[in-house]
Amino acid sequence: MPNSIILKKKIKEFNKTILVSGDKSLSIRWVLFSSLANGVSKAQNLLISEDVIASIQAIRKLGIKVVLKKNFCKIFGKGINGYKYKKDIIINSQNSGTLGRLILGLIINTPYPIKIIGDKSLSKRDFKRVTDPLSKFGANFKLKRDKYLPVTINGNKNLKGINFKENIGSAQCKSSVIFAGMRASNKTLIKAKKSRNHTEILCKYLKLPVKIIEKKNFDLIEINKVNKINPLNYKIPSDISSSAFFIALTALNKNSKLLIKNVNINSSRIGIIKIFKKMGVLINFKNKKNYKGELIADILIKSPKQLNPINCPKSFNSGAIDEFLVIFLVAAKANGISYFKDLGELNQKESPRLKWGGKILKMMGIKNIISKDKIKIYGNPNLKIKKKIIIKSYFKDHRVFMTSVIAALSFGGVWHIHDKDSIKTSFPSFLKIIDKIKK
Ligand code: S3P
Repeated sequence: MPNSIILKKKIKEFNKTILVSGDKSLSIRWVLFSSLANGVSKAQNLLISEDVIASIQAIRKLGIKVVLKKNFCKIFGKGINGYKYKKDIIINSQNSGTLGRLILGLIINTPYPIKIIGDKSLSKRDFKRVTDPLSKFGANFKLKRDKYLPVTINGNKNLKGINFKENIGSAQCKSSVIFAGMRASNKTLIKAKKSRNHTEILCKYLKLPVKIIEKKNFDLIEINKVNKINPLNYKIPSDISSSAFFIALTALNKNSKLLIKNVNINSSRIGIIKIFKKMGVLINFKNKKNYKGELIADILIKSPKQLNPINCPKSFNSGAIDEFLVIFLVAAKANGISYFKDLGELNQKESPRLKWGGKILKMMGIKNIISKDKIKIYGNPNLKIKKKIIIKSYFKDHRVFMTSVIAALSFGGVWHIHDKDSIKTSFPSFLKIIDKIKK
């Protein structure tokens, strides 16, 4: 099977209902919380992708039994102190920053050194941002060139709570410190710049001794020692970051309509909806409901007559952090110049995404200017691509692959997109759903 695809045809008008796979952030968090619970936790609609399987393998290495079937997953937790630490454990986080960073907080009390490794892309990403606060608890870390994987953790049994100012807006750093704080003898306080809050919502649902005070631009989180976590039965809702590709597809095509069922529309994740609504895309939430603290809805999207450019407020960034590649595509078709700022974090993702966003638009013939952490995109509502575009050597970033597919189907041209396997990290059924929309 070739590991690339060639796309030559634009998609026709469509009117479809789809279901995308389970939320990746919640799937990984369910695996990690369940590994600490007293008893058996069961999940339905768990995302079965490489990032989540790596998380399952990680807790298996720590002595936790997992039964993974097509329709459900069961984790046999042995309590907060139930990990079987032993010598020479190596955890392979593969492509997953979430697993690599969160697991360090969970294993902060290991009596033996544990080594975390990752793939080529993850090995280029910053781990110091998480080992710095974690070392204040009393653990020790050895990193490659002081910043990168592999990292070896030397844990500590007598952990002291810390005060931590989380200034990046990274849910991974915040969550890792929350997990570590659960093991410390005294209180941990985090002042965190806004970022996705699934970890906090699960702590609240599980009635853990964690308090959250939400302020306008940051959250205050207090974590106390946890003695027991109850098993967590969970039906994972669909991922808005996977839905994003189809929302963009509908925004970029004429006379089309799409209903995406049962999506997690947690307010810390809907930046793309706010941005697209400002740009004139017609989006409505139907059947809103609360599920164990998360907000779920069906998302109805209708093609707009025209796309407006946007001067994107910084405050929308954190809620759209994984969606900017497709947001840039939509800006490419807007009727004017769009501005996005304060996006330095995009270059810290699976690939340097601010750079890749600009590069893809240039290949498409869309003028854009990147300066430091900003991008200015000169939209062209009449853009039609006639040439051949080759997308390769992009660190196998799943979102670069999927964004390129959406561009090919929306703007035409001949696209040769390499590294199809990249979708296995977050969204293995992506191309099947594309086929369903095409039919
Ligand atoms: C994630 C947090 C975000 C996001 C990533 C998933 C999480 O990363 O980009 O895809 O599940 O906590 P940062 O913590 O680096 O912002």
